Amino acid sequence: MYITPRPGGLGRNHVTESVNKRLDRRPDTVPDPPEAPLFTSVDDVSARLAETGYLASPAVATTVFLAGRLGKPLLVEGPAGVGKTELAKAVAQVAGARLVRLQCYEGVDESRALYEWNHAKQLLRISAGRDESWDETRTDIFSEEFLLPRPLLTAIRGDEPTVLLIDETDKADVEMEGLLLEVLSDFQITVPELGTVTATRRPFVVLTSNAGRELSEALRRRCLFLHIGFPEEELERRIVRLKVPGLGAALTESVVRVVGALRAMDLRKAPSVAETVDWAHTLLALGADTLDETVVRDSLGVILKHQDDIQKAAAKLDLDAL
Ligand SMILES: Nc1ncnc2c1ncn2[C@@H]1O[C@H](COP(=O)(O)OP(=O)(O)O)[C@@H](O)[C@H]1O
Ligand SMILES: [Mg+2]
Repeated sequence: MYITPRPGGLGRNHVTESVNKRLDRRPDTVPDPPEAPLFTSVDDVSARLAETGYLASPAVATTVFLAGRLGKPLLVEGPAGVGKTELAKAVAQVAGARLVRLQCYEGVDESRALYEWNHAKQLLRISAGRDESWDETRTDIFSEEFLLPRPLLTAIRGDEPTVLLIDETDKADVEMEGLLLEVLSDFQITVPELGTVTATRRPFVVLTSNAGRELSEALRRRCLFLHIGFPEEELERRIVRLKVPGLGAALTESVVRVVGALRAMDLRKAPSVAETVDWAHTLLALGADTLDETVVRDSLGVILKHQDDIQKAAAKLDLDAL
């Protein structure tokens, strides 16, 4: 991190100077650290993610590789439960990076995303220093000690490898996108009272979206785009085998086939990978040997979460085909 004191700031430049001195950094004398590339090849991505329990399709592995190489944020879009959040966690794990997560929701704002001042502590400091001049107090209360960094600032300030996960971006308001655009184009954040914080080591950024609303073209342009849909049968079988190794091969196959058939129906909420894995766990717990009609009907609530979906599925599923 390098902090550029704000020109004409509130006379508090010594704060940023001291921070930079402590960090022994100057922007023009610090060469970019010779960072080892995160992944050496697409196969390397697949192999290392698999070690953490994440099975990437070729499209996922390729895009993750490129995002690492090009240093571009990765925008991952797709239905709930297909492994978007998990992908960011897995990348952090294989990279030995800390994961900084900004969970988006309606109303998430700068004070939740960037930073805020610790007002309570500032007030205590003001009342403790009654004999000081206002200038002294003011200099002090707008220093690092009183700053509460939130995920975006935390990710940019760190010198250690970081994966920044901006999760469920579509839930945030449009104004938030403007803020993200700023941060993701320059990897710097200005705290008016302190100066501009510039990342010396760019985090690997993953934005996820359930496509609840269209993200702006400007934001998309800044990112590499990856759509994760429901997996192919073969990949989903491998995921189930990995997560629920105790389930027999025949039953694993049936589970994946039934889930596939359910996805082909016009349901309010099609089951996702998360539900497939839950269902496999359930069948193992029930000690089921085969997927017969009774077992399926009794456990449909694990994969379908709406009563009309359950009724529709129970009526339509071709149980002879199980
Ligand atoms: N490719 C995958 N490899 C391993 N597990 C997966 C994969 N895709 C999904 N999962 C499983 O699905 C669950 C839900 O994934 P998650 O990342 O929370 O979904 P999303 O963020 O897309 O809603 C994870 O906990 C994981 O067990
Ligand atoms: Mg998620």
